Amino acid sequence: VVPAKGPKSALGFTGIAPTPATTDAVVVPEGFAWAPVISWGDPLFKNTPAFDFDNQTAAAQREQAGYNADYVQFIQGGAGNRGAHQGLVAFNNEYTNDELMFRGVASSADLTDEQLRIVQAAHGLTITEVARRNADSPWRWVQGGERNRRIHTDTPFAMSGPAAGSVHLRTSDDPKGERILGTLNNCAGGETPWGTVLSGEENFNQYFNATGAPDPQGRLKRYGITSAGRGWERIQDRFSVVKEPNEVNRFGWIVEVDPDDPTSTPVKHTALGRFKHEGASVALTADGRVAAYMGDDERFDYIYKFVSKGRYKEGDKKHNMTLLAEGDLYVARLSGDGAADGEYDGTGQWLPLVVDGVSKVPGFSVEEVLIWTRLAADVVGPTKMDRPEDVQPNPVNGRIYAAMTNNSSRTPAQIDEANPRASNKHGHVTEFTEAGGDHAALTFTWKIVLVAGNPSDPQTYFNGYDKSEVSPISCPDNVAFDKAGNLWISTDGMPGQLNYCDALYVMPLEGADKGKLQQFLSVPVGAETCGPVIINEDSVLVAVQHPGEVNGATPENVVSHFPYRGDGQPRPSVIHAYRRHGR
Ligand code: FEO
Ligand code: CA
Ligand code: CA
Ligand code: CA
Repeated sequence: VVPAKGPKSALGFTGIAPTPATTDAVVVPEGFAWAPVISWGDPLFKNTPAFDFDNQTAAAQREQAGYNADYVQFIQGGAGNRGAHQGLVAFNNEYTNDELMFRGVASSADLTDEQLRIVQAAHGLTITEVARRNADSPWRWVQGGERNRRIHTDTPFAMSGPAAGSVHLRTSDDPKGERILGTLNNCAGGETPWGTVLSGEENFNQYFNATGAPDPQGRLKRYGITSAGRGWERIQDRFSVVKEPNEVNRFGWIVEVDPDDPTSTPVKHTALGRFKHEGASVALTADGRVAAYMGDDERFDYIYKFVSKGRYKEGDKKHNMTLLAEGDLYVARLSGDGAADGEYDGTGQWLPLVVDGVSKVPGFSVEEVLIWTRLAADVVGPTKMDRPEDVQPNPVNGRIYAAMTNNSSRTPAQIDEANPRASNKHGHVTEFTEAGGDHAALTFTWKIVLVAGNPSDPQTYFNGYDKSEVSPISCPDNVAFDKAGNLWISTDGMPGQLNYCDALYVMPLEGADKGKLQQFLSVPVGAETCGPVIINEDSVLVAVQHPGEVNGATPENVVSHFPYRGDGQPRPSVIHAYRRHGR
């Protein structure tokens, strides 16, 4: 049930107008302010040097906030129940804009060895304690917080699940295939009921030089591991596919991190399959198992679901951290019921890939299904989607919401009811309802609740709402929910499609305002809006990813000075938009 408009409502703000794409500002609604929580380079530990754009070192970067946050997780209080004005923020550092990080670097090929090491250290995850003065002031990172941690390209990870130790995961540095250095291109994620962080390794292919690598079964090609990479093999052989053919199989997983224990070893969960994982979002099934919903962000790729074998035990973190190591893996097929009803909707099935430890894919062992999940899924005939990004269960209504960000390559002959537009520039959002409302179900119904674009475009659809009263939107990417169950959507790609800055929106799913999409904030020129966390109706965290990323921008020629402090170079940041009270 959506509360009426008012100060206690998530909708208690006046939506902002779309922001022209060249605007170098964060725009928030009237009555709100914003402040950076933490920016690229901010020091995490007591003796970490302050950020100095012109004197960067890899040693410093390993102890400073990483670059380009996508997923953000907020834990109020946290370990030891530290009170209302303390908390923890964990965020992914997806990739780097090498041309904006250093002077005189037109492309990654120009990086010195030390700059390459800095770039590697700026990838991964950042975990930091946060604090605020009082309930009306913004959250800010705490240098020296006891749970602060950087996870980067040289941090050791353990493997879990059926493919751990597989011959396909063994390398000369790790002959047992069970200890991997680093995590790459961590995009979206999800929080577990037991308080850990799940993070998706997405476009990991770009870091590997595949020049001359044999590919008899098309395994490299299916994962886009076909380029000359970003020069990383100059300092580490493992990024050369010819020299170390299995290293690339050690990326493309869902990663789990315990943010409360900075000494813990993070884990890559092979049971959840290997693809360009956007992220994973979990919910409990009717009988207490854990379902994880996952998108594979590529044009014409798939939506997956994992269901654990074991059951969640309240308060038993050690047990719960084993749940993603064993279970069943499925991939989605969506069937339309025709256009006569005026809606894009229908039924669907979760097609089995691995069930009860047995491969359901002819010609594939369990290990092969999990390591080359895309190729295994191709065999069973799932629905080719328009780049599935976030796929998240709504904790209030139990339905699942999936952002299909766009697919400019879909031809008219490739249209189906679930992906109904050719040259889909603007994307759409699909709602799934599991049979019986149970996340363990093997069938579901589905409906597109948002066909994005300019509302004047007759193809658009805003869950039935009057299109004269909704905001333009394009390229939905991350989704989130507030405590009332309203759907929040952040975008990646609006500047190129609608000539507006990327933004964060809210769209109610029930009640009189169902489908009334309003824009909450927008981010500066060149940036993407990521990782929204709707703490409450007064308080929203977003990641401002790649501010100033436009063609030709360099440190001498920046188009964004966000977050508008210090030397004026753009610095990806997590920010807090908060309501100003009594001022
Ligand atoms: Fe990193 Fe699918 O966006
Ligand atoms: Ca229909
Ligand atoms: Ca994304
Ligand atoms: Ca994105």
